[in-house]
Amino acid sequence: MAQNDLIHSVKDRFQNVFGKAPLQTAYAPGRVNLLGEHTDYNGGFVLPMPLTLGTAVAVGFGGAAGTVHISSTAFDAVEQRMLSDRSADHWTDYVIGSLIHLLDGVLVKEGLQVMVSTDLPIGSGLSSSAAVEVATIRATAALFEMKLSDVDIAKLARKAENAFVGVPCGIMDQYSVSVGEPGTAVFLDTRTLRSEVAALPDSHHFVIVHSGVSHKLSEDGYEKRVSECHEACAALGVEMLSDLGLSDLPSVDALPSPINARARHIVTENDRVLRAVSALQDQDLALFAQLMIESHNSQRDDYAVSVPEVDALVQGALDAGAEGARLTGGGFGGSIVAFMPKHRVDVWSKTIDAQFPNARILAVT
Ligand code: GLA
Repeated sequence: MAQNDLIHSVKDRFQNVFGKAPLQTAYAPGRVNLLGEHTDYNGGFVLPMPLTLGTAVAVGFGGAAGTVHISSTAFDAVEQRMLSDRSADHWTDYVIGSLIHLLDGVLVKEGLQVMVSTDLPIGSGLSSSAAVEVATIRATAALFEMKLSDVDIAKLARKAENAFVGVPCGIMDQYSVSVGEPGTAVFLDTRTLRSEVAALPDSHHFVIVHSGVSHKLSEDGYEKRVSECHEACAALGVEMLSDLGLSDLPSVDALPSPINARARHIVTENDRVLRAVSALQDQDLALFAQLMIESHNSQRDDYAVSVPEVDALVQGALDAGAEGARLTGGGFGGSIVAFMPKHRVDVWSKTIDAQFPNARILAVT
């Protein structure tokens, strides 16, 4: 569904459910990360690309002060939450957490009504949660006439995810879906929050394929990886693993296992992002593709965030003619991104569909 269609659908549904038109609507896309995995909570570099799939949110006033009525075009139920709530392990946490952080210190005299409409597959590693957060914050900030920059919105959305939902994620997802533009990649330094637009080659597509294995960041080893990185920092006497470069690898390797491998992934992955951005500038697509493959191997062997189904899909993608392929997103299931010349996509997709019945092609960009 195009962005305008999603906005129409969210407005219509708001009108049907709440009996009046919404006062504000906003949209945020999902994203696929092309390179730089798990570097964002280590002050490192990332290279995500916003998608043409996304989430629209409509908001208005209604109900008693302190209440928030939330629904979605995907579900019939209208959930009632409170601005004083704690997280409830429910999809509406992304909405309520965002509202609580945005409206901190604001006198809210009326209840709020929120409608969500999305064409992003949930739990596929395409940042469906960041899209809900950013669109909720953007629409509600407009409702309260608050002036926030795209970077401010990204920071608030990350805070909602960290402090309310309880996932200790970095800022890559929220930043890329708030600041980025579909069709180009965002080369972001997560330490300084400086970013540049990275142009992508016209000759190639990125194809995103869900492995069939669902992931949920709050239930898997994501948190463990974050604490392993902290452990490595403490052992090496640095504030963040992105303080280290390739010349520090001998001291990294000397750490006890598996901390050494975790830190090695971060150090080498940071370097891969820098080389990939140069490769794009030089139009060296063979090198870019090679770096994607090395990134996958490092996620599998050093960071241990892949699963056998994803490894098989990456290998199948390469065998079927992709030039590069890797696990994308938080891992432990989820999606891969494959890189190939545009003219190969049709035949390639048929091969993948035939060989991986549980896999699902989600997007071609
Ligand atoms: C998830 C998190 C991001 C990032 C990736 C891994 O998507 O939300 O902050 O850490 O995993 O690169």
